[in-house]
Amino acid sequence: MPDIQIMPSILGADFGRLAEECRRAASAGADQIHVDVMDGVFVPNISFGPDVVKMAAKSVQLPRSVHLMVSRPQDHVSAFSEAGSDTILIHVESKCEVAETLALIRDLGQRAGITLNPETPAESIFEILDARAVDEVLVMSVHPGFGGQKYLSYVEGKVAAIRRRAPWVDIAVDGGIDGSTIVPAAAHGVNLFIAGSYLFRQTDMATAITDLRAKAKSAFCSAL
Ligand code: DX5
Ligand code: ZN
Repeated sequence: MPDIQIMPSILGADFGRLAEECRRAASAGADQIHVDVMDGVFVPNISFGPDVVKMAAKSVQLPRSVHLMVSRPQDHVSAFSEAGSDTILIHVESKCEVAETLALIRDLGQRAGITLNPETPAESIFEILDARAVDEVLVMSVHPGFGGQKYLSYVEGKVAAIRRRAPWVDIAVDGGIDGSTIVPAAAHGVNLFIAGSYLFRQTDMATAITDLRAKAKSAFCSAL
């Protein structure tokens, strides 16, 4: 079984206490911190820049996974790498030479990831997968831009197709993950789970993370 990991998304945290919220996630047993970067162009919202990654790197030992929802990711990967990211995820729908940008991310010593919006088909990344140009695939289970949206179960078929094509790759799911939706996501082959509003609204985040991890482990299936 691939590593099952739970990653709190600080888009769901209290913005007035971000460092403290990162420490709360770390002591609750989170595996990585997910940082959403939005430029107001690729998605309608604007969120964090490299300084927030720097803050997370200073606050906790956990790896930082940076989700770039920006229209020209190639212009920003160096800045995020310098700020202390460990994984950089770009969108296949963004305006860039995807293969070149993924290679640049790896040249910077980062794990490289490709992200698909809910309507983007699995086939759009098959060439990337066959070339082993990524370490991680992030399947959006909401339309990117905002936390607190409803999980879109129709992306599960796409997860299964990606898992069949690339049994070795880490598959993450982002949007609407909670104690119920994590089960079918894991059953279709997801092994990395990003959760924002669900985890940060908990008074006992440690119990919630333990519960999510246990549910994902028992539901995980890679052979659909
Ligand atoms: C949405 C972001 C997500 C968001 C998920 O565009 O990419 O990472 O924080 O939030 P929840 O878990 O509340 O759906
Ligand atoms: Zn995200």
